Amino acid sequence: MITGQTKVFGIIGYPVAHSLSPAMHNAAFSAIGYPGVYVPFPVSKDLLAQAVVGLKALGVGGVSVTVPHKVAVMDFLDTIDPLATRIGAVNTIVVRDGRLEGTNTDWLGAVRALEEATDLKGKKAVVLGAGGAARAVVFGLLEAGSRVVVLNRTVAKAEALAEELGTEAGSLEDINRLSADILIQTTTVGMDEDRSPVPATVLSRFQVVMDIVYSPLKTRLLREAEAAGCRIVDGLAMLVYQGAAQFELWTGQRAPIEIMRQAALRALR
Ligand code: ATR
Repeated sequence: MITGQTKVFGIIGYPVAHSLSPAMHNAAFSAIGYPGVYVPFPVSKDLLAQAVVGLKALGVGGVSVTVPHKVAVMDFLDTIDPLATRIGAVNTIVVRDGRLEGTNTDWLGAVRALEEATDLKGKKAVVLGAGGAARAVVFGLLEAGSRVVVLNRTVAKAEALAEELGTEAGSLEDINRLSADILIQTTTVGMDEDRSPVPATVLSRFQVVMDIVYSPLKTRLLREAEAAGCRIVDGLAMLVYQGAAQFELWTGQRAPIEIMRQAALRALR
């Protein structure tokens, strides 16, 4: 029930109508009896500054930040933690004592999702893609003690990312001569189309395959990886774990992971 004591949270993005985060966070609030509500804030680029400053004025407790604002929002915050600065993107704002604190939980979401399938320390991982999502994933893997090779269609982008974070790079075609413990797909290929960025024949050279695309939940890559005998991790797991980390920052309480996953799954269907 919403009362005068209800704390408001939300998601700033454009568009946000299809976000699974409201379902996920509201289910979590009600599961632990926290007096919170989480709402969509569709904010266009030209109104981002006003929206973010307005969070303080309205007493909002915190927000998730999504496409296209994760980088631009950094200009309007009071503090940004060193991890988010290194990743170069903020996906979480905590409003504490009237100050806007930016952080990033995407990297932790990737790490925790992968840890459901494997230890990461000392493992070798191949990351497909060099966009914003790849940055958080590569950072997370390095934090967790894995070695990483970044492969991208545009090799220069993979090289720039790898150099900045201190790792190796190559082209997408290099997948044909590489093997590793873990393969993580961060490109937009497979999103609402039944395509995989790599040939199915290479997949048996990996033990664990994760796709950060979650619509559809089982992408072509994940189906082919399963058929090749790999353990698979879907993109919903990363979404849930990055959300769980946000929930814990905002409420100071342990996130009910399974309830969040079930709520996100229901919202996806
Ligand atoms: P995000 O922030 O979600 O990572 P992005 O920054 O736009 O999105 O990055 C999209 C990624 O998907 C990039 O690595 C892009 O490769 P390029 O750098 O070569 O553009 C990759 N990508 C998109 N369409 C692709 C395709 N058809 N084949 C291979 N890679 C593709």
